Amino acid sequence: MEHYIVKGGGPLSGEVEISGAKNSALPILAASIMANEPVLIENVPDVSDIRTILRAIESIGAIVEKKDRHTFLINGAFVKDLPVDNEAVRRIRGSYYLIGALLGKFRRAEVALPGGCTIGLRPIDQHIKGFRALGAEVHLAQGRAVAAAEELEGSHIYMDVVSVGATINIMMAAALARGNTIIENAAKEPHVVDLANFLNSMGARIKGAGTDVIRIRGVERFHRSEYSIIPDQIEAGTYMFAAAATGGDVVIRNVVPKHLESLTAKLREIGCRVMESDDSVRVIAGTMRVHTNVKTLPYPGFPTDMQPQITVLLGLASGTSIVTESIFESRFKYVDELVKMGGQIRVEGNTAIITGVEEYSGARLQAPDLRAGAALVIAALAAKGYSQIYDIQFIERGYEELPEKLRRLSGNIAKVDTDEDELQARTRFNMKAV
Ligand code: EPZ
Repeated sequence: MEHYIVKGGGPLSGEVEISGAKNSALPILAASIMANEPVLIENVPDVSDIRTILRAIESIGAIVEKKDRHTFLINGAFVKDLPVDNEAVRRIRGSYYLIGALLGKFRRAEVALPGGCTIGLRPIDQHIKGFRALGAEVHLAQGRAVAAAEELEGSHIYMDVVSVGATINIMMAAALARGNTIIENAAKEPHVVDLANFLNSMGARIKGAGTDVIRIRGVERFHRSEYSIIPDQIEAGTYMFAAAATGGDVVIRNVVPKHLESLTAKLREIGCRVMESDDSVRVIAGTMRVHTNVKTLPYPGFPTDMQPQITVLLGLASGTSIVTESIFESRFKYVDELVKMGGQIRVEGNTAIITGVEEYSGARLQAPDLRAGAALVIAALAAKGYSQIYDIQFIERGYEELPEKLRRLSGNIAKVDTDEDELQARTRFNMKAV
């Protein structure tokens, strides 16, 4: 079975290049079918969730031309409002963006209900509330969401919870609705802004993305565009925390430092040096790691997608730290794995109480979801000895070339399949260490 083999203990050092943001690319690729002209999208990350959304849009008639590994020309002129449903679509969360895209374009959408990481209940009531406010009838049947409207009319929508997915979905449908829409209590994440910028580049009229209130003036159609996706804030953060946990010194290139501010602030509290420049950050681990508390919050707060990574780091800090997860209910499943590595962490409800230990020790680990999987890789790199990490398909959903990028930073990690592969990797690590 494919897995990672990691030999921990050495500091990461060098430079790493960050890919395009998965959580921007998903809605942007879905929205690209709304135009009847070709749209060129650059800086698309090469990860499995993205390959799935590309296949989904092809299945309803989009012409997807791969220009290079990270650039796609998409033409939505031949797209039909066909049902979007297959096993792969059901596995990814981002497929629900096709509801907003198809509803906006055709006034009708039928899309399999979203899967994604099992980190909590993840209801879609706010999406449905928004579509209904725009005049659509929405019902859920046989595992699909079916939305249809005679006409979409702009509306004033107040979101009961701050939701990235609902804000994006409503923005897409409203951009091609008649009249004006106001979304209040909107999510402010960088990918919400990125999607708004992309829609505007196709002719939409959206203002206020990145604030609590988004104003949308509906237009009749979209036109051709060229657009480059923003760097992945969470991938960048993952390398920042990997540098800190391994006692390393890493320059993380192709980032927007502003998007990383909550992470930078926490790393400094913990005792790291973080130097920012225009499009890179350098993280130098401190000699001491100091405990701290953190609570996940919507942007610009500390992101839930970085909660497992900071827990891994605080597991190696002096004293007691408290991590509170306020976005998803089941996001501490990886803690059992850290305990196997010698971590002293107790979960009570939505809180992890962490007593720092000197070091983790290598173990056989199971990735429970995407970000937790990445966090276990960090723990394994920091640990003494060897670790094997299984269920890496979760990690590959959202991290492009994770082992390769880490190896360029002197991390001893390899993706292996058979016992023979693993033996060879272990031999290589040991030869390197000599
Ligand atoms: C997005 O999920 C991301 N996924 C998640 O990243 C990320 O953790 C999350 O935003 C928060 O930043 C994608 O972009 C594909 P939400 P999403 O709607 O849109 C509740 C990763 O690892 N809620 O902002 O599903 C919900 O239960 C993934 O890349 C409702 O109650 O998150 C949660 O408590 C994991 N009703 C909160 O809102 C709704 O209709 C925030 O969820 C919608 C959401």
